[in-house]
Amino acid sequence: KDTQSNLENVKNEQLEQFRADHKNTKLTTNQGVTVSDTENSLKAGERGPTIMEDFHFREKMMHFDHERIPERVVHARGFGVHGHFQVYESMKKYTKAKFLQDPSVKTPVFVRFSTVVGSRGSADTVRDVRGFATKFFTEDGNYDLVGNNMPVFFIQDGIKFPDLVHAIKPEPDNEIPQASAAHDTFWDFVVNNTETAHMIMWLLSDRGIPRSFRMMEGFGVHTFRFVNEQGKGTFVKFHWKPKLGVHSLTWDEAQKIAGKDPDFHRRDLWDAVNQTMFPEFELGVQLLAEEDEFKFNFDILDATKIWPEELIPVKIIGKMTLDRNQDNFFAETEQVAFHTGNVVPGIDFTNDPLLQGRLFSYQDTQLLRLGGPNFHEIPINRPIAPIHNNQRDGFHRMTIDKGKVSYHRNSLQQNSPTPDPVNGYTHYTEKVEGYKIRNRSDSFNDHYTQATLFWNSMSETEKKHIIKAFHFEVGNVKNKTIKQKVVEMFNNVDGELATQIAQGIGVQPPATPKQPTVKASSPALSQMQTIKSAQ
Ligand code: HEM
Repeated sequence: KDTQSNLENVKNEQLEQFRADHKNTKLTTNQGVTVSDTENSLKAGERGPTIMEDFHFREKMMHFDHERIPERVVHARGFGVHGHFQVYESMKKYTKAKFLQDPSVKTPVFVRFSTVVGSRGSADTVRDVRGFATKFFTEDGNYDLVGNNMPVFFIQDGIKFPDLVHAIKPEPDNEIPQASAAHDTFWDFVVNNTETAHMIMWLLSDRGIPRSFRMMEGFGVHTFRFVNEQGKGTFVKFHWKPKLGVHSLTWDEAQKIAGKDPDFHRRDLWDAVNQTMFPEFELGVQLLAEEDEFKFNFDILDATKIWPEELIPVKIIGKMTLDRNQDNFFAETEQVAFHTGNVVPGIDFTNDPLLQGRLFSYQDTQLLRLGGPNFHEIPINRPIAPIHNNQRDGFHRMTIDKGKVSYHRNSLQQNSPTPDPVNGYTHYTEKVEGYKIRNRSDSFNDHYTQATLFWNSMSETEKKHIIKAFHFEVGNVKNKTIKQKVVEMFNNVDGELATQIAQGIGVQPPATPKQPTVKASSPALSQMQTIKSAQ
């Protein structure tokens, strides 16, 4: 057996040597055959038809015909960049995640920023949520933090995601409008699904038109769980804080730039990295002890709610530096596959029903988008941690699996992959019991308290921008009943806001405008004064 594997090694070395000695600077086919002419196809006579046996013509055209893959069903337009992450201090007390232990360790990362609604060729500066997805290539395997630039989401349960996306994407009969929420189906969805209220406030604020990817916050949105060496869990929310601060465009700027330079955000990032003005983001965590899970007047499993930072401060734990541009947009930005299910020991999920829905969706969509089950072998997705298992075959398999054994519990395979009960990933041993039902805690039905909190926290200028955004977005809705319902819905946030919206879109103001809530007496805050964070 040893002689056989020695022979194989010699063979491989000879092959490598041959390739090194025979570098071809001439044009070849994909079979390595040098081509004599790539501008004139083979013809039967000077004026005759092209001949099928012209293998170079056929290969060149066939490859070109297959150059595109489906764009992402959401977040189709994006831009990627490489970098690294370093933790400031060990987070051992809360998590055993290796990349959060040692401040001297630099963990490579790849980040993809994106818009959500527009197709791959849409403009960068439209009003939209921005994706902020980070792949950490850790020594324990890949960890993906697939976040957005807003800390809450439109809906509370993954099962509504197809409805949300069908409503916000261009309308199916004419595919209008591209990359905009200013149309009937979206606002019809909003008024019929009022848990969207809080997210709409963020979307219509200046956060919806960022100045630069370098000047946006990022949020994991869901409540996740840290798990330490002793198996103790702590709830955690993730935040990215840009060192350059948070900055936005004005609406007028955003519209003009969309016309003059639709690539504004990707160009800004690309140029900044090339000019060594490396974007930096600090990683922050909000930590909540398990004992405090039920001390809020909202459910921490509800992705339409934030944890107010004055109650649970954001603890800054590390920094990410983005310092290398991609070499190839398709190979990296287009083929990268993020998935909320890619976690490493020390990081776990919670029962947030939106997160649970995502856990199915990402890998499922990537099976189609990236053509089968082997997309983890594409260079940008490959972990730096070794892969060792008995999975085999499938479309586009690159690994040459050796030997005749590909099943677990065997006596024939040398170095057979076996699970490691000590260091392997163990799911958090959360106690779960209950009836199979579809409802959630009552507080999931409170759709307005935090939307009002957000409105009250805005300066006068910011409030004006939000009202103007309503005027543009809802002003473009053709159906008057939907417009009127928007006014009634946002009257639950603030009466003055609703009245001003009505004035700009030609419908009636609310019959009974809701009076402003004084910030200090807001129930979201007063009931929570006693909560201590886990820090
Ligand atoms: C992309 C589904 C909610 C952030 C995607 C994709 C799908 C998807 C199918 C395309 C993935 C691909 O083709 O590679 C869902 C579902 C959700 C949900 C079913 C709710 C149940 C969210 C939330 C966030 C988010 C709450 C933010 C916290 C992202 C980002 C991307 C993305 C950043 C782009 C990743 C990239 O750059 O490749 N989502 N999503 N999604 N989603 Fe979600």
